[in-house]
Amino acid sequence: MNIMVVGTGYVGLVQGACLAHLGHRVACVDVNQQKVAALQRGEVPFFEPGLPELVSEGIESGRLSFHVALQDAVDAVEHPDIVSVAVPTPRSDDGSCDLSAVESVCRELGGIVDKTLLVIKSTVPPGVRSKVREWLGNDKIGIASNPEFLREGKSVQDFFHPERIVIGAEKASDAEFIRRAHEGIDAPVFVMSVESAQLAKYAANTMLASRLALVNEIANIADAVCADIKDVEAVLGSDPRIGSKFLRTGAGFGGSCFPKDVLALADVAKQKECESLLIQPIIETNDRQPLKFVEKFGDVSGKKIAVWGLAFNKETDDVRESPALVIVRELVKRGAEVSVYDPEAMESAKKELGEAVNYAESMTAALEGADMLAVLTEWPQFASADWEAVKSALKTTDIFDGKNFLPRERLEEIGFDVHGMGLCAKHERRPHAS
Ligand code: UGA
Repeated sequence: MNIMVVGTGYVGLVQGACLAHLGHRVACVDVNQQKVAALQRGEVPFFEPGLPELVSEGIESGRLSFHVALQDAVDAVEHPDIVSVAVPTPRSDDGSCDLSAVESVCRELGGIVDKTLLVIKSTVPPGVRSKVREWLGNDKIGIASNPEFLREGKSVQDFFHPERIVIGAEKASDAEFIRRAHEGIDAPVFVMSVESAQLAKYAANTMLASRLALVNEIANIADAVCADIKDVEAVLGSDPRIGSKFLRTGAGFGGSCFPKDVLALADVAKQKECESLLIQPIIETNDRQPLKFVEKFGDVSGKKIAVWGLAFNKETDDVRESPALVIVRELVKRGAEVSVYDPEAMESAKKELGEAVNYAESMTAALEGADMLAVLTEWPQFASADWEAVKSALKTTDIFDGKNFLPRERLEEIGFDVHGMGLCAKHERRPHAS
């Protein structure tokens, strides 16, 4: 098939490169000229495992091309069977979804493409279909929705092995068209209306975010009553009605999706006069979590703190809405001197933190002269650090685990005191021998 993908962020670029791998001819478009020039050279502008290889493969095969102008992309694929819109839909100041990028693409596209299927890949509120129709100003263009469920850091794997493919369409033939574009991927396909598909996307992210917000609140209660959240997590996870995935507690969740999508769904509910009492507080409780974590450090004035991990998640260089940045800023505000290290996110963090912190070249370099260590992203190399060496380097025995993921028992054997959210002290954790 001939496919155009508009927007080369995490969603669009992964989709474009993966569709080219499946054998389609794909033209990707982005308004950022520098980004397009880099992509034409095979350079991927962000860290995403497996993606550079797919982009190079696509360029070499001649199936994947990059353009600045929509018209050039239309010409490159001769005529697009599908135009996938994967442009950013960020959070507006009032929490609603900012659709300006979708609008400008639709307005331009309606004038240059005669007949095609417009597939909205960006996360947009249910109900925008009529606006999209108006922006396109062209009745021959079909409108469909194909929300994405990719996780940053795992997006290539998630594209080829998804839990499901969701297709929202006006006509059965349009749905079939989108299904054919995914031929070769073994996953259940859910076909529904455009609005149901769009709501399903918001519902999935809101359910996941609410689960994390709730289990983090339970961790805070565990702190207050001297219970251990790891034991509570094990009990919850053993109930198949609850399940064990997405239960890891800590200093809050982040990323470019959960906070924005939860607030956008709350806004949709408000606009439709079915205001939710449950959705908005998911974000309020999550915003509190990094600050609750900082309380555990006590008085940090004049202390030197090493920080490992700045990205919102492992396997990404993305620091958007990362709790780690909130924690670092708060420690600095309270008078600490902070040395940070992240294997991939140093450049993106520098743009946010500026001169406020020292940037270390390695995990070991961050520890130089440090009183204590905070680990804020669950990169596997942090968990498997040389902890004996860390012990010699630090002036105290305090480790602060913002993701509750470090091998706590091992660290305690070495002599560390591990502080996390809802992790009670060792002597209070198990029944005594006598
Ligand atoms: C999320 C969804 O998981 C994807 O399905 C969806 O496609 C994507 O948003 C999107 O809408 O684009 P993403 O934000 O990339 O993906 O990453 P996640 O792995 O979901 O992590 C989000 C945050 O939750 C991270 O800060 C992570 O550390 C945190 N998290 C995750 C926890 O605190 N505990 C967990 O058990 C799992």
